[in-house]
Amino acid sequence: MPAKTFYLETFGCQMNAHDSEKVVGTLIAQGYAQVPTPDEAGLVLYNTCSIRDKAEQKVYHRLQQFQRSGKGKIVGVLGCVAQQEGERIFERAPHVGLVCGSASYNQLGELLVQIENGRRRVTGLSLDTDEAFETPYTCRDNPHRAYLTIIEGCDKNCAYCVVPFTRGRERSRLSQGVMDEARRLAREGYTEIQLLGQNVNSYRDPSLADWDFATLLGRVAQVPGIRRVRYTTSHPRDFGKRIVDAMDENPVICDHVHLPVQSGSSAVLARMDRLYTREEYLERIGWLKNARRRYSLSTDIIVGFPGETERDFAETLSLLDEVEFDSVFSFMYSARPNTAALRFEDHIPDEEKRRRLAIVQERQRAIQLRRNAALIGGVMEVHVEGRHKSLGQWIGRTSCNRTLNFTHPAASDASLTGQYLSVRVTRSGPNSLVGESVCVV
Ligand code: 5AD
Ligand code: SF4
Repeated sequence: MPAKTFYLETFGCQMNAHDSEKVVGTLIAQGYAQVPTPDEAGLVLYNTCSIRDKAEQKVYHRLQQFQRSGKGKIVGVLGCVAQQEGERIFERAPHVGLVCGSASYNQLGELLVQIENGRRRVTGLSLDTDEAFETPYTCRDNPHRAYLTIIEGCDKNCAYCVVPFTRGRERSRLSQGVMDEARRLAREGYTEIQLLGQNVNSYRDPSLADWDFATLLGRVAQVPGIRRVRYTTSHPRDFGKRIVDAMDENPVICDHVHLPVQSGSSAVLARMDRLYTREEYLERIGWLKNARRRYSLSTDIIVGFPGETERDFAETLSLLDEVEFDSVFSFMYSARPNTAALRFEDHIPDEEKRRRLAIVQERQRAIQLRRNAALIGGVMEVHVEGRHKSLGQWIGRTSCNRTLNFTHPAASDASLTGQYLSVRVTRSGPNSLVGESVCVV
């Protein structure tokens, strides 16, 4: 087995996916080669998520599976479970040699050198770092669409959320660094940029330029060569009207806003420490609905937060009816270590959480069926993401963040991936659209 090979598997959110791209860049700069299976690798890394208990259990399951087959390899746990569990991981999974949280990735190169020099166990668990994770080389997975971190960490204290404990304090990147990276991406041929952060809306330029998120968003959208800009994720408390204005003024910014609400009940929102009421959330939705452009809206919902009554739950359902989101990610509340809600009373039984989740999903499915059906006959621009060979269809994504799969007569061989095409919608389902490309003759 060649000494310097690594395998990396990633769990969790887009921040984690992008961190992995940076970790790969760091490893390659250090002389490692990436291999596609753990069997071929000398170093096996898992970049982990701990947002819900299930995600964390998946990681331990993977580590156990590997304990039997992974003799002689160095196993590393990165990301949120690493930060949350720290050295306890060595007790549960004694074959692990490296534990490093995302706030310490700047030290990753150094930690690897220690391992190469024979240290059995190394850790990077400090949350004190106030620098963002900058690397000279990021190995991006997609040649057309690039993630770009603008802010790391989170200073909110949502009562259910483990992220402030796993990703540390908020730190914004210098606007100059963000703009340099955006221009470099455009030069390299990327046409779509997704700005990333746990709460992008609270971005604050540490330099004298002092840009807020709305300014940064507008400036990135004006970089020549960039055709689409997205951003995730938003916190309603920090989602100001200026962001909507920046979107209205820059058609390059996609027609989609993900604004996690979590609950439709102001009483639950207060206990979650979300810092807004149902009415304040709806005010922001009003800005978006009354904007110059039509924006598609998506959200996150947690059902079964401790103390959530039938009445609270009914308010979440009525919010779904009132807003008519284009998509909803819904989850059963999961108790997480260190969080305030762990100590709350009136935990809802799993069975009841499951029942509420099913109701939310059924209700939302009907809304999406209706909203998507209304798009039939229209023409939408897609960014082509790839091809479903078996279906004979290309996979496209609309500016409003829908998957629109389509047929294209002239493209049996030539690759359309990365191109922007006009597609007429012919069919719809709850989660995607189907269409045919509109050939310009
Ligand atoms: N339990 C269930 N869902 C959670 N989320 C965050 N923490 C928890 C938790 N403890 C959800 C929120 C968040 C999304 C990324 O995950 O809805 O917006
Ligand atoms: Fe999971 Fe949250 Fe960490 Fe992302 S930041 S990997 S969602 S725990």
